[in-house]
Amino acid sequence: MIQWSLAVIAFIGILASANGYCVKHTVNHNDTQYRHYICFRSTDYRESLARISADQPTGVMFKFYPVPKIINGSFESHKGILIDLGFQRCEVTEIDDHAFKGLINLKMLMLDKNNLQTLKAVWFESLTNLNTLSVTENQLQVLDPEVFVNVPNLVMLNIGDNKLQCLDMPKFRALTHLKYVGLDFNKWTWKCRAQLTEFLNNLTDAKKLTRYITCKKCYNVYKECAADQSFDDVNETTFNACADEKMDKLVIQENTKDCDD
Ligand SMILES: *[C@@H]1O[C@H](CO)[C@@H](O)[C@H](O)[C@H]1NC(C)=O
Ligand SMILES: *[C@@H]1O[C@H](CO)[C@@H](O)[C@H](O)[C@H]1NC(C)=O
Ligand SMILES: *[C@@H]1O[C@H](CO)[C@@H](O)[C@H](O)[C@H]1NC(C)=O
Ligand SMILES: *[C@@H]1O[C@H](CO)[C@@H](O)[C@H](O)[C@H]1NC(C)=O
Repeated sequence: MIQWSLAVIAFIGILASANGYCVKHTVNHNDTQYRHYICFRSTDYRESLARISADQPTGVMFKFYPVPKIINGSFESHKGILIDLGFQRCEVTEIDDHAFKGLINLKMLMLDKNNLQTLKAVWFESLTNLNTLSVTENQLQVLDPEVFVNVPNLVMLNIGDNKLQCLDMPKFRALTHLKYVGLDFNKWTWKCRAQLTEFLNNLTDAKKLTRYITCKKCYNVYKECAADQSFDDVNETTFNACADEKMDKLVIQENTKDCDD
């Protein structure tokens, strides 16, 4: 996912210690160059971060660290300079409410391949400049709707491969800068898929990250089931039952899997 907007300019060096190592690159994000570290297989992300000087714009991605919890105050010394931050395959299950406090320059937050069950609005209170949020392959079941209110400048949101059933549609639709949206492989209800499909159909680039829930035949079924009502107004129970029945037939008749997820 990081390739979407980070172009590596040059390989610069390695910060190594007995406790893991960090590889340093220069990257380009939206025409701004800054240094970016990818840190591997240590036990303490705070110790790794402490070895990175806090004197210039910086990105840090931690990979394969055991981080059950991202702790309050961890980024205090680097809060003005962090442009992007990531924890990938780190078993993150919890994040302290104010762990990201003060990261006012953060543009990208990547939390893919962890164990998060929710996203809390309070985590994002300082992150008004965030343009990229990726939380794929976690256990997300429900998102605090106020999350979207706190990140009004999001351009890229990827929450594919989770267990979400729906989003707060009015607050989600208020993200008017969204261009790249990843929603595949969740447990969306039919009503929610219909609403999301309509939203995505309005975004020309959205399908780059979402392919399955927007299939055309499915959309025709949603339209039939809604009769002349808007998807927001349909009775959820009736609509889901109708779509369930028609989708079964669609898959059998057409022998197509493009509606599965
Ligand atoms: C890229 O930078 C320009 C100018 O600095 C800014 O207006 C724009 O919002 C930025 N886009 C993203 C996606 O950060
Ligand atoms: C976390 O930090 C905030 C301020 O940055 C403080 O108000 C809060 O008490 C801290 N919480 C914990 C659990 O340390
Ligand atoms: C899609 O765009 C049209 C035209 O701009 C707008 O009227 C409609 O409300 C949008 N639908 C959604 C679901 O965003
Ligand atoms: C939706 O339709 C079902 C079945 O007709 C009905 O029992 C239920 O009360 C309706 N729900 C709402 C919110 O109108």
